[in-house]
Amino acid sequence: MPQKVKAVIARSKDAPVELTTIVVPDPGPGEAVVDIKTCGVCHTDLHYVEGGIGDDYPYLLGHEATGVVSAVGEGVTNVEVGDTVILNWRAVCGECRACKKGDLKYCFSTFNAEQKMTLEDGTELEPALGIGAFAEKTLVHSGQCTRVDGVDSVDEQAAVGLLGCGVMAGIGAAVNTGEVKRGESVAVIGCGGVGVAAVAGAKLAGATTIVAVDIDPKKLAKAEELGATVTVNSKEQDAVEAIREATGGVGADVVIEAVGRPETYEQAFYARDLAGRVVLVGVPTPEMKIELPLLEVFGRGGALKSSWYGDCLPERDFPMLVDQYRLGRLPLEAFVTEKIGIDEVNEAFDTMKSGDVLRSVVVL
Ligand code: APR
Ligand code: ZN
Ligand code: ZN
Repeated sequence: MPQKVKAVIARSKDAPVELTTIVVPDPGPGEAVVDIKTCGVCHTDLHYVEGGIGDDYPYLLGHEATGVVSAVGEGVTNVEVGDTVILNWRAVCGECRACKKGDLKYCFSTFNAEQKMTLEDGTELEPALGIGAFAEKTLVHSGQCTRVDGVDSVDEQAAVGLLGCGVMAGIGAAVNTGEVKRGESVAVIGCGGVGVAAVAGAKLAGATTIVAVDIDPKKLAKAEELGATVTVNSKEQDAVEAIREATGGVGADVVIEAVGRPETYEQAFYARDLAGRVVLVGVPTPEMKIELPLLEVFGRGGALKSSWYGDCLPERDFPMLVDQYRLGRLPLEAFVTEKIGIDEVNEAFDTMKSGDVLRSVVVL
């Protein structure tokens, strides 16, 4: 039986989001219904509201979520009713050219549920990132669910749910894309939510020197809390020189750019050591360009890599990172600034714009 539940939608561009009633169908083949427990408020949700993602209103917002599976459709084998899951927006198909090459992170046909959730009048909803989890229940493709064990309290769920998006992007930039190894040096340029998660990822991977660069002292303080050993305010100091100085004059083994501006891309490039890896996480606009002197590329070598959703494979990475969290090696709770009700998403957007929070998390 289709179920009516409370949910938060963006009805039109730039309007405040609304708490309303939606209709969630029974899961079809390969689909699952998840009773949402927690869902973080991410910049991407705001981009949906501001029209930056598309014009397919109304959107059902929310995508950094944990929940408990309450129904599964035919053929679902990876999760069962009662499982606690973290949702992801990168279910891979295993069959496209990228998957066949083994480059799963470039899968062309990431799965979403085929059926649509609707408003009570039958209007179809477009779920944010194929999830839509500011809702008491949501319908997803079963491949978007990863079972995680031993996260039973709301606090634990709020913390690990952040692996569903921004925090995974940062941790994965260090652990997966940057392949940070024990004893290496890492510099992170830009310490917003993604950058501080990269700092935590670098620490988890065993980096010894972790240089955090930002223009905002508050962000640098947070980076220090999460494992930065040196902080650099690049309004006051030259970022490249400061990173070199902090790494014995040579540059970092891995430099992670988490701003998305030409000048910080350039800093990342020049701040790498011989054979250093430069990881680009900040998303550039189509117009952005930088000039790279080829002799510098050739002489110093290394790699320039982009990182997309932390290059994560949810089935591999979510349970592993939850274990690290439970062992006390990954302080995911530090990313949860406040827990809020489902009727407080507009206020959470305002707080986000003020730049003073890492994450507001809706608790259902
Ligand atoms: N040098 C260093 N830091 C800077 C600079 C600069 N020139 N300009 C801005 N910053 C800092 C800001 O002070 C802020 O702390 O970069 C950080 C950006 O953080 P957020 O705006 O919170 O963004 P975040 O969610 O962390 O995402 C960062 O990654 O996934 C991408 O699209 C995302 O491009 C964005 C980037
Ligand atoms: Zn594929
Ligand atoms: Zn997100």
